Amino acid sequence: MLILGLESSCDETAAALVTDDRRVLAHRLAGQEAAHAPYGGVVPEIAARAHVEAMEPLIAAALKDAGIALADVDAIAATAGPGLIGGVMVGLVTGKALAHAVGKPLIGVNHLEGHALSPRLSDPDLDFPYLLLLVSGGHCQLLLVKGVGRYRRLATTIDDAAGEAFDKTAKVLGLGFPGGPAVERAAALGNPRAVPLPRPLKGAAEPHFSFAGLKSAVARAAADHSPEDLAASFQAAVVECLIDRTARALHAAPEAKALVVAGGVAANTAVRTALAGLAAEHGRRFVAPPLWLCTDNAAMIAWAGVERFAAGLTDPLDMPARPRWPL
Ligand code: KG4
Ligand code: ZN
Repeated sequence: MLILGLESSCDETAAALVTDDRRVLAHRLAGQEAAHAPYGGVVPEIAARAHVEAMEPLIAAALKDAGIALADVDAIAATAGPGLIGGVMVGLVTGKALAHAVGKPLIGVNHLEGHALSPRLSDPDLDFPYLLLLVSGGHCQLLLVKGVGRYRRLATTIDDAAGEAFDKTAKVLGLGFPGGPAVERAAALGNPRAVPLPRPLKGAAEPHFSFAGLKSAVARAAADHSPEDLAASFQAAVVECLIDRTARALHAAPEAKALVVAGGVAANTAVRTALAGLAAEHGRRFVAPPLWLCTDNAAMIAWAGVERFAAGLTDPLDMPARPRWPL
């Protein structure tokens, strides 16, 4: 089985070809960082326009990389939400047009399901159920992944997502955009104990997250500390909150065989190291996909397409694009 995957829900345009035996035959990606950098965040109108320009050439390039004709794919999977609606529509409408043109089924993929199933693309031994910490620019959730289309949300953020907190902190510290990698680089040069910062919701009974207060605390301390010490102290606080909340979820989900991390923040070494330690402490396997699969990409959408197609799940061509779509 061979699936074409399309992704365009935020600021990456991507196309990939993935088989059911986990071969990534092609995976192409066009970022838009330079276009959004002057604004310190993703501008929806600029993003949608850039997706329109990038999508078709990327698909052509991916097919060429794989040496495959569009007619040879078994189905076309496109992100149908959640995300910036203009961008989601570009990928979904393109997917519908291609599916119609070659008479193949359409699979509308929830972007979060793409992240949730992506660890099974890189790790053939990862079986359901597993506990997933999904930490990206738009989301911060703990999900019990029980099977394809079977998810139980154990926790979410009551304000900002973890990646959003990294991005906002980077802006406050003048470190540039995207903020996550910039904060991580600065943090490596600072002292994580230099600035006393809050640990929002640490110890709370429900495993929810909160990060907005952390960003404000960094802003208040900015005059008295170096950006490096602030970045290091901020990162340490985020890691401590993630670990505390994830530990609580592990207790609430004893059936989870593995602890899995996905989403852009999973690229952070301090986050990965701390989660690996937590999993070991709880006698669970720890699975973290390679970095290119953690941040937004189309291989995870194609793989979710593989899993859904194998389960007999396809979608009608009038399927709507959804800006909000809880799993
Ligand atoms: O999954 P992703 O590519 O897009 C979303 O679906 O949101 O995640 C992007 C987020 C951004 O907020 C970015 O700052 C964060 O992931 N990020 C990081 C790192 N690399 C990316 N956060 C912390 N440390 C990193 N090294
Ligand atoms: Zn994402």
